[in-house]
Amino acid sequence: MSAQPGDVAPVIRAMRFNDLDNVLEVEGVAYDFPWSRQVFSDCLMAGYLASVLEYNEQLIGYSILSTAAAEAHILNLCIDPDFRRHGYGAQMLEHLLDYARSLGIERIFLEVRPSNDVAIRLYERAGFKQLGIRKSYYRAPDGREDALVLVLEMRPEQSSEQSSEQSPEI
Ligand SMILES: CC(C)(COP(=O)(O)OP(=O)(O)OC[C@H]1O[C@@H](n2cnc3c(N)ncnc32)[C@H](O)[C@@H]1OP(=O)(O)O)[C@@H](O)C(=O)NCCC(=O)NCCS
Repeated sequence: MSAQPGDVAPVIRAMRFNDLDNVLEVEGVAYDFPWSRQVFSDCLMAGYLASVLEYNEQLIGYSILSTAAAEAHILNLCIDPDFRRHGYGAQMLEHLLDYARSLGIERIFLEVRPSNDVAIRLYERAGFKQLGIRKSYYRAPDGREDALVLVLEMRPEQSSEQSSEQSPEI
């Protein structure tokens, strides 16, 4: 992907039910074991923070964050493979962190496959630290794969750049 004259800056907006065809198209190429339409619908109906990233009116990414009391959980964060390595993943993650900060969320959790080096680097750059391992959490072509559990301890008044220097208090 390269910028063309007339291109507009990517925008993040709330996901709607009528985005799901496009979301599922990206989900299907991004993951070996994609979420179903039902899972995305359930997230929308549950009122989770479900967002899409649009570039020139094309859906190129999305994220889902659940919140409960002082904790949040990143359930999905995905960028269309054709639009990766342009900082959009980091932009979506920053959007989630800003939203969590605005709610006074104290910590954010997520699971990631140990083999997913790009995602792990993205999260570690934002200050996430490894909390533990969930055994056999994911489906894998040859059975099950563990998940790394990452956590970000939020400090509400500080930017994510500063939070990347902190140690988790767990
Ligand atoms: C993980 C994921 C969201 C990252 O999306 P992305 O848009 O490529 O993320 P970014 O561009 O912000 O950063 C990714 C890499 O691109 C690099 N990058 C960012 N802007 C760049 C640019 N302008 N030119 C070159 N590289 C760039 C980053 O430094 C980073 O590289 P590194 O991992 O080698 O350090 C994406 O790979 C994805 O959707 N994967 C499948 C779904 C998934 O696994 N989600 C996470 C589940 S926990």
